[in-house]
Amino acid sequence: MLKNDQLDQWDRENFFHPSTHLAQHARGESPNRVIKTASGVYIEDRDGNRLLDAFAGLYCVNVGYGRQEIAEAIADQARALAYYHSYVGHGTEASITLSKMILDRAPANMSKVYFGLGGSDANETNVKLIWYYNNILGRPQKKKIISRWRGYHGSGLVTGSLTGLELFHKKFDLPVDQVIHTEAPYYFRRADLNQTEEQFVAHCVSELEALIAREGADTIAAFIGEPVLGTGGIVPPPKGYWAAIQAVLKKHDILLVVDEVVTGFGRLGTMFGSDHYGLEADIITIAKGLTSAYAPLSGSIIGDKVWKVLEQGTDENGPIGHGWTYSAHPIGAAAGVANLKLIDSLNLVSNAGTVGAYLKKTMAHALGDHPHVGDIRGEGMLCAVEFVKDRDNRVYFDAADKIGPQVSATLLSQDKVIARAMPQGDILGFAPPFCLTKAEADHVVSATVRAVKTVLG
Ligand SMILES: Cc1ncc(COP(=O)(O)O)c(C=O)c1O
Repeated sequence: MLKNDQLDQWDRENFFHPSTHLAQHARGESPNRVIKTASGVYIEDRDGNRLLDAFAGLYCVNVGYGRQEIAEAIADQARALAYYHSYVGHGTEASITLSKMILDRAPANMSKVYFGLGGSDANETNVKLIWYYNNILGRPQKKKIISRWRGYHGSGLVTGSLTGLELFHKKFDLPVDQVIHTEAPYYFRRADLNQTEEQFVAHCVSELEALIAREGADTIAAFIGEPVLGTGGIVPPPKGYWAAIQAVLKKHDILLVVDEVVTGFGRLGTMFGSDHYGLEADIITIAKGLTSAYAPLSGSIIGDKVWKVLEQGTDENGPIGHGWTYSAHPIGAAAGVANLKLIDSLNLVSNAGTVGAYLKKTMAHALGDHPHVGDIRGEGMLCAVEFVKDRDNRVYFDAADKIGPQVSATLLSQDKVIARAMPQGDILGFAPPFCLTKAEADHVVSATVRAVKTVLG
């Protein structure tokens, strides 16, 4: 096929790219990469560059690219029934089957799955249902949601508020009043360098207790958190964090929403992050790994306790006033069924655990002594390298130096490996597809070492 040489111009003139420096892009100052095909852990652009995608798109193509089983399932569904809605009791074989498959895999005490399209709208659903829940229970003042600084939960109005990153609030009039933030469980960045992990957990707990006391437990409906902080820096929690936080929430009758958009369906080497950390969620958010991004689909897994009240609410008030045209879209559902089957048949959850641990260990071995590497961390198929100016005194680089973005750009230009410069701090993030092999992990590590040496010496 003839290459369209106007594509770059069309892109800059017509396409509003998310999470992009709009002015630079329009002026042609930032790259415009057009991706054409992909297979396994590799993507290929229209200029023929083959890139190892060590971030699985946006940590979502968990089974890897080019899976024909999923493509076929989507095509079959589109031919048989591309769309029908799921309002007033309608469904399709795919959407019903997928809800059953999800609950078969979910932690105990989960009751139903509501399907949306992406992680943001799923969390928007969660907040709305939580407000409804407390209204039905006759507690109209119990509405605030606690999130953590550096949490990521989407970029809508409420979900952008839940997200605890400055870029997502600044100039958008966010966060909204009903959202309040507490300390991030980020041990490496603790204010007091002398604190042990245990002392830091106690500090996070006392910050949470103080926030609840200030606001009043009777005004707080829920706490939302990712099992491992993702976009905020790929930060596994310090030991004992989740048990201690859950005890506080229970004491104050605050619901727990576990955002498993990144961790759900295997990324930590367990089916859910909740299994990994012993989390007892009232609602679980899922998206990305549910279909490995072969089609847009998200979900809110509603626990028994909330579900019972939702049923009571509809007995009192009529049908639930919530739903999207594309809720439980059959094509997304068909992709989800095929994806979950593939994860099982290829044993990918276990591979995410073993190859992910290998990646982290190899990275730590190769870069652990570098004078500008402050921390190497990860869990399952998630890994991060954090850069510092002065390692002994944990002095960070100036944000304006853009060390993280420089390393990531060098990794790409030198060795065609994609890792993500995380948005806040000089942190290089890795979240490869679960089918990554040890040989591919070795290549990612050696390329990263080369990039770090090029940028930082
Ligand atoms: C933990 C988490 N929650 C929610 C979202 C938002 O999902 P989406 O971008 O599909 O709206 C993301 C996206 O990265 C995420 O990482």
